[in-house]
Amino acid sequence: MCALATEWPSGSSSRSFSEREAGRIMFDSRLFEGRTVVLTGAGRGIGAAVLEAFLHCGARVIAHGGRAPPAGGPDGLSDARQDGRVQMFYSDFSTSDGVTRFAEFVRDSTHEIDVLINNAGTMVGRFPAETLTNDQYASIVQLNQTSVVELTRELLPLLQRGQYPAIVNTVSISARMGGSAGSSIYAGTKAFVATYSKALARELAASGIRVNCVSPGTIATDFHERYSSPEKLEATRLSIPLQRLGTAEDCAPAYVFLAAHALSGYVTGQVLEINGGQFIG
Ligand SMILES: NC(=O)c1ccc[n+]([C@@H]2O[C@H](COP(=O)([O-])OP(=O)(O)OC[C@H]3O[C@@H](n4cnc5c(N)ncnc54)[C@H](OP(=O)(O)O)[C@@H]3O)[C@@H](O)[C@H]2O)c1
Repeated sequence: MCALATEWPSGSSSRSFSEREAGRIMFDSRLFEGRTVVLTGAGRGIGAAVLEAFLHCGARVIAHGGRAPPAGGPDGLSDARQDGRVQMFYSDFSTSDGVTRFAEFVRDSTHEIDVLINNAGTMVGRFPAETLTNDQYASIVQLNQTSVVELTRELLPLLQRGQYPAIVNTVSISARMGGSAGSSIYAGTKAFVATYSKALARELAASGIRVNCVSPGTIATDFHERYSSPEKLEATRLSIPLQRLGTAEDCAPAYVFLAAHALSGYVTGQVLEINGGQFIG
């Protein structure tokens, strides 16, 4: 877990925590019984919380855990593994080959899927516009944008066989606000995925496939360990109307909601912002 755990503002911590827990428990543990979910970037951060939420709701999850298995130690999924409800695969999405290998793993594991969640991604680094190299540009675009297009294309035939199929893509508040210094290409890729998802929602509606996005604000995960300082995060926290950074658990229910036909069957082409009011559009 990230060492930058959310600092709860005094007076509101217990209420925020219990509301979050209540939200998780309120999802029916059979909501995704008999359903197959494909999820990328499930090894930590937001993806790990989303994985836990779908397992709680009875899904079978074919998960991409990240680039490589964590070094040593159990990953807390042994029960679900024993029940055959979770399979983990690792590959680097900075190359098309990594995406292709995960798609092959999914096809070898199942003939149909009900939910695809494209979540793997990161800023890669902070690159000032005047010194950005072609290789840096290409690797940010490949990971955050092209991999989403490629995996979606590869898995559409399986989704078309699913029951009430849905795609949920992770975008970012930076797609609307432009992000911070050195993240212009990352922000641009997230804006691409948001618009791509809206266009796909129109194109795939006839096939019964809904397409939506979750747009996290500033969420306390390893992501910010790498790309922010404690001072920058504290300044951000103070600017957020709800006066705290988000958590991965704040985000997970939005994915469950958007993936569940019973809850959001009339919602498609939308971007759900999870940001404590940091951006109100
Ligand atoms: N945290 C935020 O404030 C925030 C805000 C807006 C949007 N987001 C988005 O939310 C998603 C999840 O981020 P997070 O905060 O949970 O970050 P995180 O804790 O760093 O997790 C990112 C996940 O993506 C995977 N990933 C990164 N680079 C990869 C690569 N080259 N190939 C394959 N997998 C790779 C990571 O695997 P490894 O373990 O191999 O790195 C990890 O599983 C990302 O798409 C991110 O852009 C985050």
